[in-house]
Amino acid sequence: MLWYPYTQMKHVNRVPKMVAGNGVMMELEDGRKLIDGISSWWSVIHGYNHPALNSALAEQAGKFAHVMLGGLTHQPALHLAEALVRITPAGLNHVFFSDSGSIGVEVALKTAIQYWKNLGYEGKTRMVSLKNGYHGDTFKAMEVSDDSDFSRAFADVLHRGYVLEIPGGGFDATAEMVEPAIDALEQLLTSNSPGIAAFIVEPIVQCAGGFHIYSSLYLKAARELCDRYNVLLIFDEVATGFGRTGKLFAAEHAGVTPDIMVVGKALTAGYMGHAATLSTDAVYNSFLGADYEKALMHGPTFMANALACTVALKSIELFEQEDYLSKIKQVNAIIEQEFSTINSPLIADKRSIGAIGVLEFNDAAMLDGFKAFAMDEGVWLRPIGKMLYLMPPYIIKPDELIRIINVMRKWIIRST
Ligand SMILES: Cc1ncc(COP(=O)(O)O)c(C=O)c1O
Repeated sequence: MLWYPYTQMKHVNRVPKMVAGNGVMMELEDGRKLIDGISSWWSVIHGYNHPALNSALAEQAGKFAHVMLGGLTHQPALHLAEALVRITPAGLNHVFFSDSGSIGVEVALKTAIQYWKNLGYEGKTRMVSLKNGYHGDTFKAMEVSDDSDFSRAFADVLHRGYVLEIPGGGFDATAEMVEPAIDALEQLLTSNSPGIAAFIVEPIVQCAGGFHIYSSLYLKAARELCDRYNVLLIFDEVATGFGRTGKLFAAEHAGVTPDIMVVGKALTAGYMGHAATLSTDAVYNSFLGADYEKALMHGPTFMANALACTVALKSIELFEQEDYLSKIKQVNAIIEQEFSTINSPLIADKRSIGAIGVLEFNDAAMLDGFKAFAMDEGVWLRPIGKMLYLMPPYIIKPDELIRIINVMRKWIIRST
């Protein structure tokens, strides 16, 4: 029997079965057609069954689907590495592939710890992260994620690092508003930096941990402080990357380059699992030397899978050719406009950035039954806790987007 994620299997009876996908539409076995409002966990940015992605994949499959990267290389991997270096913040020149966002984060954390070891520092191994952060479900990724339902069962074996509050005031916070969080970071680094390897954040938007949006001023300050106190800065752009916050990468809001950056999810447009961990020259160079032990000891079987690299390359090409950043701007304008007309005592906060829209309810119980309701209305949305959010494919048309938001509206009216 199939075991589902984040699911109490005792309560599972009939899980809806998808039989076809086209554009933003998912077709279920029972004939229902749903607009995907969350891009299959934020990955399917061009929609389902995209002809250009399909044919790129078919062409590569006709040559070879996969070859081990240990001791061999291939054109899709080389080209994708080049493309990622070109489109990510300047200075991230070295690309390590892996098979999922969580593993990409593991690679980032291992890289950071080994960087200091390779440079001769002992004991510079602890991590700093932000409250409400989510970086994946593997062990080290859980250690830098907030204590939550996702990791509670393992609390006894997790070696957590330092956890800081995120700055208040949202994206447009003033300098005064973000100052307390910056001061807290500086205080922590002043006292503890000799034992700290890296500070890891989801830049600008913490997604799975509750869609908290914060100011780029904090990231700028974090960059300066990490440099001053000899700590690496890691941006986890697994969720925010590839346009989700309105810039190609969220780092661009702050105009800073992290030492290490992780991308995943939309990297392969939802076609298959893959991630990339990018590093600067300084980080990469610390792994060079006569000593084999200095090398990065990681190598997933499916790293740089040729189909994954091919679909990622085509996805980046589509993104650039079809000016997706403008599409995302339009998506945001519609979310803002529609959200401005939703006012209810049930809603504690409304926020949006790029192609993300969030209605925060006062209580998670207010969303009990929402998923089934939305399906009956022809929409696929899956709240996280008290957050009813949408992160649609970027190809979504205005009327489809409005339909999704109207389903949210209808639920609120019904529940009031
Ligand atoms: C910011 C962030 N990092 C890492 C991950 C883990 O990615 P994956 O589910 O591909 O392992 C996620 C998944 O939601 C994420 O949102």
